[in-house]
Amino acid sequence: MDEAGAILIRKVEVLSGGVTYSLVLLEEDLSSLYPGMIRYTVELKEKESILARFRTNSYEYSPTVPNEPRAVAERVMDRWEKELRSDPAGILSSEHSESPPRNEGDSADVVVIQGSPRPDGNCGILCSWVVEEAEMAGRSVAIIFPHDLDIKPCIGCYQCYNTGTCTFSDDMDGIIHAVSGCDLLVVCSPVYTNTVPAGLKAVIDRFQAFHAERSLGGSNKTQKGLLLGVAGRKGERNFLCVTRVVESFFLNLSMKPLSPFLVDRMDEVRDVRTMPELRARLASAVREGLERS
Ligand SMILES: Cc1cc2nc3c(=O)[nH]c(=O)nc-3n(C[C@H](O)[C@H](O)[C@H](O)COP(=O)(O)O)c2cc1C
Repeated sequence: MDEAGAILIRKVEVLSGGVTYSLVLLEEDLSSLYPGMIRYTVELKEKESILARFRTNSYEYSPTVPNEPRAVAERVMDRWEKELRSDPAGILSSEHSESPPRNEGDSADVVVIQGSPRPDGNCGILCSWVVEEAEMAGRSVAIIFPHDLDIKPCIGCYQCYNTGTCTFSDDMDGIIHAVSGCDLLVVCSPVYTNTVPAGLKAVIDRFQAFHAERSLGGSNKTQKGLLLGVAGRKGERNFLCVTRVVESFFLNLSMKPLSPFLVDRMDEVRDVRTMPELRARLASAVREGLERS
């Protein structure tokens, strides 16, 4: 991660077992991400190599928790200094590593998140058309069904802004990896009580960790996002929330949102395959999404 802009607050040198270690406390202003966000980093170094690292940020502390991130970081630094003087092996053997940089090269070109819990419903049919269209264009496709996966809801701990990764390890790891490398992300959502279904919302919120990864580490990748929305009732107003939620999701990940592809009146029509021209219109939306920008 880019350390540029970090201010050195404190530095201590410790001679232990014939080795000189340095402990540093750094402060970074992350208010370009969130108002007033400050991150503190404690690093244990031997010459230039980092042996251990602890991070905390001001958004981790909820209003009822009086801990201040700087005080927490100072306490970690004091503890490490003591441990270094008494038992350096203990601190050096503990796990402090961060994830290696992501290899985006092994992802599919197109990722489809099929947000309907009904695998064989109208969203499922639209997604199968997307897959066929992308494959006809010679592009690889991965399809993801959130409702079949183990995805814990985001708990708002903000620890992803320390490391760029989530504290939970579940099926989101694979989803984030797939999305990180794709050119086109297709999110297909039925309208449930005016918004997206719970399983899809869990996925969207958990992408906060990817927002952290991208914001802290940067990415030059150009990606596009296409929403397919399906509503039971008639009228565009039924998609107001879904389009806002999914557009925010794309923008959060720095993806370019394409015009949403919205299909209403499913309570009457029942089956998208009976709608004239629909498949051809979707094919053309997908082709637009696949154009290199
Ligand atoms: C729990 C639930 C809530 C729904 N809420 C709405 C709604 O607020 N507005 C709407 O137009 N349709 C609503 N619908 C209808 C679905 O959007 C519609 O049936 C859609 O075709 C479902 O997609 P699927 O065929 O892929 O399952 C709801 C359906 C369910 C099961």
